[in-house]
Amino acid sequence: MDPNETGDQLVFFVNGKKVIEKDVDPETTLLTYLRRKLGLCGTKLGCGEGGCGACTVMISKYDPFRKKILHHTANACLFPVCALHQVAVTTVEGIGNTKSRLHPAQERIAKSHGSQCGFCTPGIVMSMYTLLRNTTEPKMEDIEDAFQGNLCRCTGYRAILEGYRTFAKDVNCCGGVANGTGCGHSERENSTNGGCCGGKVNGPGCCMNGREDNVKMMSSSLFNSSEFQPLDPTQEPIFPPELMIQCKKQQKQLCFKGERVTWIQPTTLKELVALKSQYPNAKLVVGNTEVGIEMRLKNMLYPVIIAPAWILEMNAVQHTETGVAFGAASTLSSVEEVLRKAVAELPPYKTEVFQAVLEQLRWFAGPQIRNVAALGGNIMTASPISDLNPVLMASGSKLTLASKEGKRTITMDEKFFTGYRKTVVKPEEILLSVEIPYSKKGEYFSAFKQASRREDDIAIVTCGMRVLFQDGTSQVEEIKLSYGGMAPTTVLALKTCQELTGRDWNEKLLQDACCLLAGEMDLPPSAPGGMVDFRRTLTLSFFFKFYLTVLQKLTKNNNGANNLCEPIPSNYISATELFHKDPVANAQLFQEVPRGQAFEDMVGRPLMHVSAAKQACGEAVYCDDIPHYENELYLTLVTSTKAHAKILSVDASEALSIPGFVCFVSAKDVPGSNITGIANDETVFAEDVVTCVGHIIGAVLADTQEHSRRAAKTVKIKYEDLKPIVTIQEAIEKQSFFKSIKRIIKGDVKKGFEESDHILEGEMYLGGQEHFYLETHCTVAVPKGEDGEMELFVSTQNPAKTQEFAANALGVPSNRVVVRVKRMGGGFGGKETRNTILTTAVAVAAFKTGRPVRCMLDRDEDMLISGGRHPFLGRYKVGFMKNGKVKSLEVSYYSNGGNSVDLSYGVMDRALLHLDNSYNIPNVRSVGIVCKTNLPSNTAFRGFGGPQGMMIAECWMSDIAQKCGLQPEEVRRLNLYNEGDLTHFNQKLEGFTLRRCWDECLSSSSYYARKKLIEEFNKQNRWKKRGLCIIPTKFGISFTIPFLNQAGALVHVYTDGSVLLTHGGTEMGQGLHTKMIQVASRSLGISTSKIYISETNTNTVPNTSPTAASVSADINGMAVHNACQTILKRIEPIKQSNPKGSWEDWIKAAYEDCISLSATGFYRIPELGYDFEKNEGKPFCYFSYGVACSEVEIDCLTGDHKNIRTDIVMDVGTSLNPAIDVGQIEGAFVQGLGLFTMEELRYSPEGNLYTRGPGMYKIPAFGDVPTEFYVSLLRDCPNSKAVYSSKAVGEPPLFLSASVFYAIKDAIYSARKDSGLSELFRLDSPATPERIRNACVDVFTKMCPPAEPGTFKPWSVRV
Ligand SMILES: Cc1cc2nc3c(=O)[nH]c(=O)nc-3n(C[C@H](O)[C@H](O)[C@H](O)COP(=O)(O)OP(=O)(O)OC[C@H]3O[C@@H](n4cnc5c(N)ncnc54)[C@H](O)[C@@H]3O)c2cc1C
Ligand code: FES
Ligand code: FES
Repeated sequence: MDPNETGDQLVFFVNGKKVIEKDVDPETTLLTYLRRKLGLCGTKLGCGEGGCGACTVMISKYDPFRKKILHHTANACLFPVCALHQVAVTTVEGIGNTKSRLHPAQERIAKSHGSQCGFCTPGIVMSMYTLLRNTTEPKMEDIEDAFQGNLCRCTGYRAILEGYRTFAKDVNCCGGVANGTGCGHSERENSTNGGCCGGKVNGPGCCMNGREDNVKMMSSSLFNSSEFQPLDPTQEPIFPPELMIQCKKQQKQLCFKGERVTWIQPTTLKELVALKSQYPNAKLVVGNTEVGIEMRLKNMLYPVIIAPAWILEMNAVQHTETGVAFGAASTLSSVEEVLRKAVAELPPYKTEVFQAVLEQLRWFAGPQIRNVAALGGNIMTASPISDLNPVLMASGSKLTLASKEGKRTITMDEKFFTGYRKTVVKPEEILLSVEIPYSKKGEYFSAFKQASRREDDIAIVTCGMRVLFQDGTSQVEEIKLSYGGMAPTTVLALKTCQELTGRDWNEKLLQDACCLLAGEMDLPPSAPGGMVDFRRTLTLSFFFKFYLTVLQKLTKNNNGANNLCEPIPSNYISATELFHKDPVANAQLFQEVPRGQAFEDMVGRPLMHVSAAKQACGEAVYCDDIPHYENELYLTLVTSTKAHAKILSVDASEALSIPGFVCFVSAKDVPGSNITGIANDETVFAEDVVTCVGHIIGAVLADTQEHSRRAAKTVKIKYEDLKPIVTIQEAIEKQSFFKSIKRIIKGDVKKGFEESDHILEGEMYLGGQEHFYLETHCTVAVPKGEDGEMELFVSTQNPAKTQEFAANALGVPSNRVVVRVKRMGGGFGGKETRNTILTTAVAVAAFKTGRPVRCMLDRDEDMLISGGRHPFLGRYKVGFMKNGKVKSLEVSYYSNGGNSVDLSYGVMDRALLHLDNSYNIPNVRSVGIVCKTNLPSNTAFRGFGGPQGMMIAECWMSDIAQKCGLQPEEVRRLNLYNEGDLTHFNQKLEGFTLRRCWDECLSSSSYYARKKLIEEFNKQNRWKKRGLCIIPTKFGISFTIPFLNQAGALVHVYTDGSVLLTHGGTEMGQGLHTKMIQVASRSLGISTSKIYISETNTNTVPNTSPTAASVSADINGMAVHNACQTILKRIEPIKQSNPKGSWEDWIKAAYEDCISLSATGFYRIPELGYDFEKNEGKPFCYFSYGVACSEVEIDCLTGDHKNIRTDIVMDVGTSLNPAIDVGQIEGAFVQGLGLFTMEELRYSPEGNLYTRGPGMYKIPAFGDVPTEFYVSLLRDCPNSKAVYSSKAVGEPPLFLSASVFYAIKDAIYSARKDSGLSELFRLDSPATPERIRNACVDVFTKMCPPAEPGTFKPWSVRV
C-alpha cells in the first residue's frame, strides 16, 4: 500500500464524545492532542517522558483477545494519538466538575488538602479514578501501588493518601467516624504502626479520644470525611457501545501519514512480517515508552512505525509444557496478572522464575508505563539496564522470531545481545513471543534490583540468578548469573558460573564466587553511569543475598541425609528478606480555635485551599492553559552546549527549511539593554562568550511548538573552547570567587579553642537540588501594539522583577509592561528570579514579531538552564569540652554560585546566619565565599542557604557526640539555646519555644524506648541496621535585605458586597491566597465566600517583593489587614447608623454616600537591619522553631533505606490555617528528604548536566514518605510579630529532614561497628544508596576498592 494514498480515519472517544480524525500526524501525542486540539487542558505536561504522571488519563478499550473491557491508566505524553483507534479516553474533565458535581476522587483529594499547587492533582485523580473503575473496594496497598507513577512536589503525599484512604476497605481504622478523619493512628508508644489503636492507647491523636482529655482543644480533624459523597459506580460513564460494536468487527489495516512519519497498523501476522520486510528499519511500537523517549529526547526520527496491537499471535498467552509463552506485544501489566495467577495456582518450586519476574515488575516503572509497555519492547530495546532481560537470560527464556521466511526459536543467552542496544534479531524479523520457563525441583531463582529510588526508577544494577542442584544435594549442577548495569549489554558471568558448577553450596563457594565476580564484573573507573565501586560491590552483595536465600531454601527443602548445609546465622536472615511495605500510619495534631470564635471567622480553621476543587477537576488555569491567540508563535531557546567558550558563529539558515519557521532572535534583536540579572552580570542572549551549558544564545520562533523545536535543532553554533571551572574544588584552586565575601565573627575563637578539651576538624559536601516544580517555566507575551505596551503572563514568584527586567530589555519604562500571575504549578524559589531568563527572551521575541509568543520549557531545558539549590562545601574546626559543650567554631562555607551572582550572596548570608542551627556557640569565626563557576546560575530554593548552613552544624555536632562517646541527643540538648540567649549574630532570642518542641518530640516519639529497641534490632541483624536521630531547627524569618520586607494590598468592595482582594504575593500552591482570604474575612468580619482573589499583577499592587523567604503571609497579611481597616473605618458611620444591617446593606449605603470602597494597604516589618562587619543589628523579625525525630532502616548490602517513622513538633505560632501549615510542614519535610537522601545532580567534568528529567533525577515518590508520619503543631505559642499571632512556615520545616540523614548515619555507624570500625567517618549529602553502601565497609566493599583519584577521568564530578 502506498501510505500517501491512505484515506483512513482515526476514530476514538474522549470523555464520551466521538472524535474522527482524518488528518493525524503520528508524531502527535495524546497529550498534545488533548491540550491543543480539544482544548482539554486539565491534563498537564510535567515532563514529557513518562516520569511524573501529571498527564495521566484513563484508557478504556475492548480487548478482543480477552473479550472484556479494560480500563487502565496511561501517560498521555507518550501515548501516540494514532494508537487511539477504537479507544475511549477519559480525562479529568470527563469525570466531574465544579459546576455540577465533583467525582469522589476529585472531592476527596481536594477536601483532604491533598492539592497544593494542583499541577500534579489531575494526574493523581485519574490514577485513583481508574483504580476505582477497576475495583470499587480497593485495598490500601492497591491505592499506594496505583500512585507508583505519580509525583507531587508540594504535599509530601501524606494528605493525598489520607484522603484516598477513605476509599479503602481494608483499613483497620475508624475511617474517620470517630473524629472525622481517617485516623490510622497507631500505638505511638512503641512504633508498631498500622491501623487504629481502637482506643487502647488513648494518647494524643487517638481517634477515640474525647476532646476534653489532657490535651485540651487539640484536634486531629483536618477534614471531615462524613461530608464526602459516597462512591456510586453506577454513575460512571459506560464504554461507548459504538466502539464495542466496532471492536468486535473484522479490522482493516490502518495507515496515517504525517509530515515525517507514517504509522501502519496491520491486522494479521502475515501483513506484519510483510511490512517488516518492506521496511526493515521500521520501529514496532506497542507502548511507545522507549521510542517516544528516543524521538523526543534523543532527536531520533523513525519514518515508519508499525503497530502490532491487533496481531492475535503477538498478544496471546499460552501455557505450554515448559512454561508460559507470552505474545511479545503483551503488556507488562498483563504479564504480571498471568504470572500472579500462575504463582497462586502452581506448586512453588515450579514458579521460582515467575516470582522473580514479578519481583522485578513490582519495581518496574509505574502502572501508567506497565499498562502500555510490552514485554517484547523491553527485550528488543536491549537496554543494558533492562530489568527483565537478566531474568530472562538467567532463566534461559525462549524467544520466537518471525519473518517472511518463517519462524525460529532461540534461547536468550549470552549471545543474544551483540552490542549496546543491539541483538541477534535481524532487521526484517520481529519478536513474536517469549516463553518464560517453569523452574524445576532443586532449582532456585532470584532477581535483585538497586536503583536510586525504589519506585519508578531504572536500575543502577539489576540481576537474575539461577542455580540448579543435583538431585537432593547441595552440589551445583548449573548456575547462571546475569547482570544488567555492568556492561553495554545484559551479561552473563560466564567464567564465574563455569567455576562454580559442580561445587558445593557453602562458605567456600561464596568466597570464591565473590572473588571471581569481582574480577569478571569489573568496570573501568570512567565507566558511563559512574558509581563504579558501588556497582561492582552490588554484584557481590546480590550474589551474597542469593547465596543466603538459596541456602535457606536448601536447608528447608533438603532435610534428607544428604543435607550438609549449615543453617544461615539468625542475624543474617533479614538480608534475604525482600522489601515489604508496612501499612502507613499518621496523625496531625493542631490546636482548635478558641471556644466562642464566630462560626464565620475562618482564621485558625483548616479551610480547604481555595483553588483545590478547581485543581482537582482540571479547571484551574496555569500559564500554558491560557487559550492560544490567533497568530501566536511558539519559541524554543537555542542554548550553549559548552560550559565556557567563545562564540565564533551562529548559523540559523537551515531553520528556513523547517515548515512554519518564522525567525531567529538573538542579542541584536534586543531593543533595550541586553544586560540583565540581579547583579547586572547576565545577558538576555549571549553575544561573544558563553559561560555555562544552557546559556541562552538565541531563540527560534515558529507557528507550532513542534516546528520551533525542530527548527531550533538545526541552528549551528561554532565555538572556541575555553577552560571551564565546574566544581567548588576547582574554583578554590583557581580562586574563582564572586567578590562579596561575608564574615560573622563573635567572641574569641582562639581562646575558645585553647579552653577546649578536644578539637575536631572536618569537611562536609552538600549537593545541589533541582526545584522540580511540576510546572516548568512558562511565559506568554502579548504585545499590545501601542507605546511599547506588553502584557506578560508568567509563572513567576516575582512579578515586579519580571516587569523590570522585561521593560529594561524592551527599552520601555516599567509602566508599559504588565505582568500577570494567576497561579504557579510550584515555585520553591526556582521562580523567584530565574524565570526572567525565559521571560525576557519571550518578550523580546514578541516585540520583534509584533505577535503573541509563548514558551513553556520542556523539562530537560528547564533543568538544564534554570539552576537550583547551591551545592555547599563546609570546612569546620570545632572545639568542645568532654561533656560535649561547644566552645569555639571556625567554619568556611563555599557555595557553587554558577555563572552569575543572582541571589547567591543572599543565600550565603542566610547560610552564615544559620551556621549555629539551634546551638549556643560562644566563639565563632565564619566566612562565606560564593564560587564563580561555569554552571547555570544557582538560585533561591526553599530554605535559601539555611538548610546548608544548619546541615554542616549538625555534621560537627554528630562528630562531637561520637568523639565524646556521648548520646547525640544529649549533646544536642546540652548545646541548645535558652530563652534570652544571644545568637552568634547577636540577636536576642525571645519567645524561644524550641526546648518545648524538643521535649514534646522526645516524649511523643517515645525516643528512649525506641532507641533501646533499635539497639536490640541492630544486635540481631548483621546486614540491616536501624538508626534514630532527633534534630532541632531554628529559622530566621524576614528577607535579609531589609527593604524587601514590605508588602501592598488592594481591596475593592463592589456594590453587591463582594470583595476583590489583591495583594503582592503570588500563589504557588502554598495556600497564600487562602490565608489572605481568611485574614480579610476576619478583618472585614464577613464570610470568606464573599472574598475573591483573581490574580497577582503589577498594575494593581506595584513594586512587590518576591513571594519568598516564608514571610509572604506575614507581610501581605498585614497589608491586607491594613487595607481592610481603611475600608472599615470609612464605612464605620454607616454601620453605626444601621447596626443591625448586613454587610451588603452597609456597602450599598456607603456607595450611595459616595464613600470610596477601594483601598490600598501597606506594611513593612519594622526595625530590621543587620551589619555583618559590626555583627550588630537585627536580621530577623522572629524565628520559627521545630524538632523532628526520625527512624530509618538501611540495607547494608545494597545501600537501600526505608523511612520507618518521623515525629515532628513545629511552632507555627497560632496557625492561620492548620491544614495549610501541616501541608507545608509535610511538603517541606519530604522535599528535604529528597535533598538529603536522594536527589543528586550529576555533571560531566566539562560541566554538562546529565540529570535532565525524572528518568535520571529522582525526587521522593509516594513510597518514600515515612511509614509512620506524625506532625503536631505546638500549642499555646502566639507570635506577637505577625498577623493574627501566626508564624511563617514555608521554609523552616525543610531542614527537619536532616533527622533522616543523621539517622542513616547512625545506622551506618552500627554497621561499621560490626566490621570493627569505630572511628568518625565522613558522609556527604545526599545519603544515596551509593554513599550508604560505600560507607558500610565490609568484606565486599574491600574486594572492590576505588581507583586512585587522578588516575582516570570520572564520568561525573561533584560540583
Ligand atoms: C518512565 C519510564 C520508566 C521505565 N522504567 C523501566 C524500568 O523500571 N525497567 C526497565 O527495564 N525499563 C523501564 N523503562 C523502559 C521501557 O518502558 C521498557 O523497555 C518497555 O518495556 C518498552 O516497551 P514498549 O512497548 O513501550 O516499547 P516501544 O517503545 O513501543 O518499543 C521499543 C523498541 O522495541 C522494539 N520492539 C517492540 N516490540 C518488538 C517486537 N515484537 N519485535 C521487534 N521489535 C520490537 C521497537 O521497534 C523499539 O525499538 C521505562 C521507561 C519509561 C518511559
Ligand atoms: S508529563 Fe507525562 S509523565 Fe510527566
Ligand atoms: S500539589 Fe502536587 S505538585 Fe504541587
